[in-house]
Amino acid sequence: MLKTAGNRLSYIQSKLLKDFGHDVAAFGANLIVYDPQFNLLFNFDGGKFISDYESASAFAKHVLDCVSDRIQTFGKFEQILCANLMAGKRIDAVLVLDCGQAMQADTDKGQIKVSRYMQQILKMFIATFGETHKNQQQMELVSNELSQTYEELMLLYKMSTNMKVTQSDSSYLQMACDNLTELVNVEGIAIFLEKRVNDTKNLVLTAGTGLIAIDHKHSNMHEILLERLLAELRSGCDALLDSEVDAPFKYEWFGRVKNIIAVPLHGKDRIIGMMVATNRLDKTDFDSIDVKLFNSVANECAVFIENESLFRELKELLIGSLKALTSSIDAKDQYTRGHSERVAFVSKWIAERYAQITGEMTAEQTQKIYLAGLLHDIGKIGVPESVLGKQGKLTEAEYEQMKAHPAIGAGILSEIRQMVDVVPGVLCHHEWYNGKGYPRGLGGDDIPLAGKIVMIADSFDAMTSKRTYREALGVEAAIREIEKGLGGQFDPEIGSIFINSDVDKLWEILQGGRIENYSSDNFSEYGTIAIGALLR
Ligand SMILES: [Fe+2]
Repeated sequence: MLKTAGNRLSYIQSKLLKDFGHDVAAFGANLIVYDPQFNLLFNFDGGKFISDYESASAFAKHVLDCVSDRIQTFGKFEQILCANLMAGKRIDAVLVLDCGQAMQADTDKGQIKVSRYMQQILKMFIATFGETHKNQQQMELVSNELSQTYEELMLLYKMSTNMKVTQSDSSYLQMACDNLTELVNVEGIAIFLEKRVNDTKNLVLTAGTGLIAIDHKHSNMHEILLERLLAELRSGCDALLDSEVDAPFKYEWFGRVKNIIAVPLHGKDRIIGMMVATNRLDKTDFDSIDVKLFNSVANECAVFIENESLFRELKELLIGSLKALTSSIDAKDQYTRGHSERVAFVSKWIAERYAQITGEMTAEQTQKIYLAGLLHDIGKIGVPESVLGKQGKLTEAEYEQMKAHPAIGAGILSEIRQMVDVVPGVLCHHEWYNGKGYPRGLGGDDIPLAGKIVMIADSFDAMTSKRTYREALGVEAAIREIEKGLGGQFDPEIGSIFINSDVDKLWEILQGGRIENYSSDNFSEYGTIAIGALLR
């Protein structure tokens, strides 16, 4: 006894079969449809006679074994027609069309004529069924291509919207590799960039995903690869493509390379790197679609690198300008030369350690504290030189003028929208933890963190610098003074973080004049905004 199976045909195939079943049933014929596992799918009854199911299933089994869509006829008058419904080479169903007593012809010849007529109808149906499968395949193909194109567009969109010049080139390029791997199933993707190392240009592996097994024996294989890519570009190709699928390899590869693609990263006037991928896993080889996609992604990467390079130059210009400005203030007093840069450096030193210990400070905030340190005394621009450079003790009025410099500095910076976040550190760098500082006499946690940090950095540099009225304190003596001032002049938590840091290393950097190497690294997004302001 056959049972009705779950319908595994597509919606369109089912609909076609149902329509056909209704049509032949209206003619008085019975249609029985089985799936390839011989489960009953449909049974359309013309209502004029009952089919012999046992015979019908035997015919169907016989036809199923033939694996062909040819119509076979059974019965004395060829009144039973059987055929497989095929989708390409796959059998989707087998049908038995029993015309039986539906044939109303009087003569044997006439009955056979009717059978031939039904065969023609069935033949047309089988052709339509096959065509539908082809159309469905075509639709699936187009749909897959559309979906792939959509994914590719999304990747490029993501890459262009994620283009923050403040991130490092390696993190952006890594993002590109990771995302591309999700779209293109390969063994490995890598990006090599031309970088200057010890005054020589080298091709450096900057980002990658998976395994690029080009060659373990030849350390300069990536350079050989670039030369081969350049040769391909010179010959008018958009990429280096090599595999042994259709022909032997064009080039010799020593690793596990089965197929390889390399595309250039075009800089403004030269090639600045390349993107390489090896061993396509879901296809036999890379194709022209891959060439377009890889080139698009490589172009995005190259644009990022060019922008990042411009940004770095602007960033250095900004920091250079600010340093020039503050050093002109420092220069008014021969004893404070280089003071602002050192305070900036020490402030950043403390901020970075505070961030490490508490986890409560972002890299961006660290950079703001660096700027607060650099600009902390910018308000001295509004203090008369006679007061600033006075040898000896200041009068009370002069001291009041001097005490105005944090507020003057804060006033100047608050006029610049992008510098607003630097203001608290500048305004509060003379506030004491015990409330005895100026200009507002804030105490404890009413003092902004940046103010507390710059206060310690400023005091440390002042103590370790020679002044008109005293010799410089040694680093150990300065640290002892800060220790004594914890809870008084200095915030105990920030002061302890500073004291417990590697002050000897800090001192070595300061003494060795190596601040430059540290001061403007990893300048974060804040730098972009600040530079935007500078350009306006
Ligand atoms: Fe100051």
